[in-house]
Amino acid sequence: MKNKKLKIVKYPDDFLRRKTRKVRKEEIKNPKFKRLVLDMVKAMEEEKGVGLAAPQVGSDLRLCTVAVEGEVFVLINPEIKSYSRKKDIFEEGCLSFPNQFFQVERPIKVKVQTLNLEGEKQKIKADGFLARVLQHEIDHLDGILVIDRAMKGNEK
Ligand code: CO
Repeated sequence: MKNKKLKIVKYPDDFLRRKTRKVRKEEIKNPKFKRLVLDMVKAMEEEKGVGLAAPQVGSDLRLCTVAVEGEVFVLINPEIKSYSRKKDIFEEGCLSFPNQFFQVERPIKVKVQTLNLEGEKQKIKADGFLARVLQHEIDHLDGILVIDRAMKGNEK
């Protein structure tokens, strides 16, 4: 199979607002699915993003990839199970909003439940930057964009 370069869907494309559907367990073993995952990781790296969600490449699957501190995560059907009460504010970018940055307040810790590429349940306990990126990407899977979370008066 040949590598296909994925095109990033940019705001205000309606596709970014669509709710995704869960990946079926048997789909995970499908070569087409594996190819999509590889192409997403590649696109994320080429675009120098720290995360990429399937709707951003025109797929309606509940799938995202994250690359933080040299580690790549592939999250299939991720759900945030808990949030810390403590929040902080940090600047976020998004490949669907090129050259724009937004101040966003988010919980500093999250627990995420996801499936890995073997289709096994996995829990990720994250804090700091990883927690922020996970929240940003999982928002995409629910049709929520960084502009929805941006602090009023702080949009740049
Ligand atoms: Co984004």
